[in-house]
Amino acid sequence: MANLFAIKANILHFPNATTNPETEYQYFENGVMVVESDKIKALGHEQDILPHFHGIEVIDASGKLLVPGFIDTHLHFPQTEMIASYGEQLLEWLENYTFPTERKFENVEYSRFIASKFMNQLWSNGTTTALAYSTVHACSAEALFEKADTHNMLMITGKTCMDRHCPDWLQDTAETAENETRALIDKWHNKGRLKYAITPRFAPTSTTEQLQRLGRIVQDHSDVFIQTHLSENKDEIEWVKSLYPECIDYLHVYEQFGLVNERTVFGHCIHLEDHTWERLGELQSIIAFCPRSNLFLGSGLFEIAKAEQYKVPVTLASDVGAGDSFSMLRTQGEAYKVCQLQHIKLHPFKGLYMMTQGSAHALSLDDSIGNLNVGSHADFTLLDPKFNELSDLRMSSRTNTPDDTLFALSMLSDERTIAGTWIAGKPVYQGTNSGV
Ligand code: GUN
Ligand code: ZN
Repeated sequence: MANLFAIKANILHFPNATTNPETEYQYFENGVMVVESDKIKALGHEQDILPHFHGIEVIDASGKLLVPGFIDTHLHFPQTEMIASYGEQLLEWLENYTFPTERKFENVEYSRFIASKFMNQLWSNGTTTALAYSTVHACSAEALFEKADTHNMLMITGKTCMDRHCPDWLQDTAETAENETRALIDKWHNKGRLKYAITPRFAPTSTTEQLQRLGRIVQDHSDVFIQTHLSENKDEIEWVKSLYPECIDYLHVYEQFGLVNERTVFGHCIHLEDHTWERLGELQSIIAFCPRSNLFLGSGLFEIAKAEQYKVPVTLASDVGAGDSFSMLRTQGEAYKVCQLQHIKLHPFKGLYMMTQGSAHALSLDDSIGNLNVGSHADFTLLDPKFNELSDLRMSSRTNTPDDTLFALSMLSDERTIAGTWIAGKPVYQGTNSGV
């Protein structure tokens, strides 16, 4: 039998790309969404929708908040097990914790084991699409693709490319990086809902020959994504300067090899000069703002006002395992605090936009994800605003507007907040508080 059901809840999303998510949202109190097969069939007020679907199965999630599944635009799936590793800033953290952990992914069984754990973490936190790094091993990317494909999930990943300045046992070469990347693109890119991201780890760990070869792949595959890191940490930036003295800035290292376009997602972008901001705006590259990681590693404060000034698309990301939580809601909460330190109020709808429709639009995927429009894939999550005693007290203490509810959840939520997560119309996670 075809998958057909309705779900009754308070429904919130952004139907269009906008620079004003504070006002350009759609909210149906006691709304209904109808799912048919893997897509959204109808959305609106109960009385306008249900009479057209006589006898349909209705999931009653009254009082809960239904939102599009979250999109996490920067995280490292092999770092799942090393989340919350003590004491270091970026370069030492990579040496001491990250590289030894990533070595384990030369084993395909281990890659599959962690891919499965990683997916459980995404879903139990309401995340339905991720732009994730794998390790240098092609089998790690394969493991993640396989797992996502089984669930018809829109997952973007790529084998990490790194042929210098990391341990020998974790290096590829310029040539194997090119060959393996091309083979993975041929096998996985646009298979079902999967997409490929060419993934040079960051400028210091690639030779110019490797970056050149990856740039050539971009020329041959104009619709693949590119993901890497940019200007995260001051020591890293000095290192890049010493490795590429001829470049005007860190961005230029990537740009000279054709790796900077509107499908490039740069993690962090904390310490940028105005001319770099300007160039990012011209090229419409995408920033992954990773507040929890930036605080955890002591990297610095992302300047959202600069991004707005130069019209650079900003998306929100967890950056696990430098980020210390898979929760995009709590990541939004931390983004709010990073903005507070700069005397900027990050509106909760702007936060939600940056992890749903805003990310989808930046990635040119908003015909399928990031919103609850009719025809989009039915990737959504159901939030329980009263998931524990404290949140119940907080939510009951005033008239609940969706922005206030969302703001409180961005500060207070934990895994009990997620009542359920659906991907392509199928439940992939059911919370203990689901009641559905
Ligand atoms: N820069 C290069 N590699 C990494 C990584 O794995 N995590 C973070 N946060 N920054 C990086
Ligand atoms: Zn990262």
